[in-house]
Amino acid sequence: MTVSGATSTSLELADIQGGVLHERPSPYVGTYLLLRVDDRGAGRELVRRLHPVVDSGRSLPDRVENAWITVAFTYQGLKALGVPQDSLESFAPEFRQGMAARAAELGDVGESSPAHWERPLGTSDVHVALAVLSPDAARLEAVLDRARQARQDLPGVELIWRQDCYQLPTGRTSFGFKDGIGQPAVEGSGIPGSDRREQPIKAGEFIFGYPDETGSLPPMPTPAALGRNGTYIVFRKLHTRVAAYRRYLREKASSREEAELLSAKIVGRWPSGAPLALAPDQDAPDLGADRERNNDFGYLDDLRGFKCPAGAHARRANPRDALDHEMSVNVRLHRMIRRGTSYGPILRDGILDDDGADRGIVFIFAGAHLNRQFEFVKTQWLNDGIFIGAPAEKDPLAGSNDSSGMFTIPQRPIRRRLQDLPPFVVTRGGEYCFAPGLRALRWLADLDT
Ligand code: HEM
Repeated sequence: MTVSGATSTSLELADIQGGVLHERPSPYVGTYLLLRVDDRGAGRELVRRLHPVVDSGRSLPDRVENAWITVAFTYQGLKALGVPQDSLESFAPEFRQGMAARAAELGDVGESSPAHWERPLGTSDVHVALAVLSPDAARLEAVLDRARQARQDLPGVELIWRQDCYQLPTGRTSFGFKDGIGQPAVEGSGIPGSDRREQPIKAGEFIFGYPDETGSLPPMPTPAALGRNGTYIVFRKLHTRVAAYRRYLREKASSREEAELLSAKIVGRWPSGAPLALAPDQDAPDLGADRERNNDFGYLDDLRGFKCPAGAHARRANPRDALDHEMSVNVRLHRMIRRGTSYGPILRDGILDDDGADRGIVFIFAGAHLNRQFEFVKTQWLNDGIFIGAPAEKDPLAGSNDSSGMFTIPQRPIRRRLQDLPPFVVTRGGEYCFAPGLRALRWLADLDT
């Protein structure tokens, strides 16, 4: 089925995995499963059985009760299935290397380095990744059952890791902030983005087989039967140090209100999701909850960052129109579809001591350009301050800080500087994956090499 969007691009929605284009149900519960393929034939049989249970990007009513499965493969996984060498070599170099090999580049050093990652993340054992999402636990079990059946009586396929995740009804994650608000619209998908000021992004930025923002077709894995309608997926388990974050704010602020303001300056939004650009002085829960308004802003009227600091997390990750005056930077080439989820228990309000629990975000990104989308944003915008004229500063929330960094908050009469930023986020592991189109799943299942 080919569905036309409002523009000239037609996307083969029935062939694109649903989890790539569609927002998740809200709230939801979910599970990530990682599998190792020890036997090529069993691996292909698994793919054959998964094919009918993986959902496409057609409209929501096509889905089984709004719950769905997404499947993706690492480079090692494609190898384990017997994908021919010339095809393997057609994938992006970053994908072929795998995330662990990119650690130094990505700032995954010290405690975040692959030597400390949770096993089997970052090892050559990770072959197949499944994401199962559902609005509630009962329906999750039903969908999980379909995934379990796909693996039944296949001794050559091992389940090697499981991570449960969820989204609270408030949409808030462990630091207490609503997340997942800003999302680009994909041209031709018919699914609106969150920012009505932003023209839909060309489909080729996210899905193989279509022109991208440069007007050309991005290098697509070959053969087309495998590459078309696929996308890369970045999967990262990010542990959040919530107690340390709260203690840091407590040390730097003289009142609760000041701590809340500093925290909002760090994120670029208030806990409700209200953007500092529209609510610079205090949280505005009505604004935070209003999807029509909570993304209706730019930074052009605040280039010096008096409302939202240029170094705030959300502004670094999507500087919107703030870089328009710099002809060399086209923000549209660095947009990200994010599908992050929370894991672990929420730390109760007011607790300042670490309870030892593992909590954080499973960060998911989908896009056709690992290098100029995810890696660029992580290395140039989050881990470096050159683009905002502050080379010594990293993202205060998610940057690879090491207790020596700082964060500048422009204010009158003199700016404020938060010093000695420790790492509030520690990488527990991750993988680069490829989520093929549905026809490509059949191609993989039918391999006969
Ligand atoms: C544990 C780590 C992280 C936490 C807790 C976190 C939290 C948040 C929050 C609260 C927002 C504001 C809500 C929103 O606009 O959706 C946000 C926005 C965003 N984050 Fe993160 N984030 C994390 C890591 C990352 C990483 C590693 C990247 C990219 C490499 C990233 C990219 C983005 C983007 C693109 C936005 C949207 C900005 C916009 O469109 O205005 N985040 N994040």
